[in-house]
Amino acid sequence: MGNGVTHHVIIDCDPGTDDAVALWLALASPELSVEAITVAGGNVGLEQTLGNARAVVSLTGARVPVHAGAARPLLGRFTSAARVHGQDGLNGVSLPAGGPPAPGLAADAIRARLRTATIPLTLIGIGPATNIALALATEPTLAARIAEIVLMSGAWGEGNATPAAEFNAWSDPEALAIVLACGRPITLVTLELTAQALVTPSRIAALRRCGRNACLRAACDILAAAPSPARMHGAPLHDPCAIAWLLRPDLFSGRDCAVRIETSDGEGRGRTHIDRWQLTGQPANAHVLERLDADGFFDLLGRRLAALP
Ligand code: BDR
Ligand code: CA
Repeated sequence: MGNGVTHHVIIDCDPGTDDAVALWLALASPELSVEAITVAGGNVGLEQTLGNARAVVSLTGARVPVHAGAARPLLGRFTSAARVHGQDGLNGVSLPAGGPPAPGLAADAIRARLRTATIPLTLIGIGPATNIALALATEPTLAARIAEIVLMSGAWGEGNATPAAEFNAWSDPEALAIVLACGRPITLVTLELTAQALVTPSRIAALRRCGRNACLRAACDILAAAPSPARMHGAPLHDPCAIAWLLRPDLFSGRDCAVRIETSDGEGRGRTHIDRWQLTGQPANAHVLERLDADGFFDLLGRRLAALP
């Protein structure tokens, strides 16, 4: 791969405050060639997440296609996370409107890109897994053209949507089950990992000192408006961790685990059973990230966002 590009990626997202920062980090990083961005309803409804994704991309000046995808999960009903991300999905920080959405729906666009890719593509999922699952379920042979899949999803302990389940996993467990079973290398960025990437007032101040450009300022405004969960000393910056893993794997450590998603209708729905201690005898199907050098991560974030317009 020329020009310092190490990964050709499709990012499937639901912006979403942390999704917005993740998109900016990706678009600022010369190691990543962002081939397409696909959007699902998740943190807020699809109309809003799609508009937010287009606005985030437009602010960078990048010409990356943004495709609309699933408005609701494969089964069950849609529930937003507006209490965390605000009704507009960006906690009230308004961005100039972006360009029009690209023609073609997300799952079709993912399949089309995989079909024609000359280099295997990396899929980054930072929202409910619906779009990626639809693409894989409708043309499973295309999985062979996936280099790897990085998902911000799940937790080995407590959830943040329910006591048992993390929001992305809980939003579409059946879709996550399809993705986990696809047979390609999967890296899982869980809540335990992102709980180490805490946005604090001093970290926002350090980010602001990195530059005065529009994308960095908007990112800081969005982060400053994010509520900190009760009993935490800051707000976890979930989705950018999935991008940073591809840029600086040396900032992370983890282990291979068997991961199963619970699709029952009970109170465990959406729980990821992560066998960190090899208790089940099941083969590993994911690399689960466990430790993060948080200072290194925020240093990377500041330097990259400062390079954007
Ligand atoms: C995940 O859920 C969403 O609210 C965030 O954008 C992130 O992708 C964290 O549980
Ligand atoms: Ca997200």
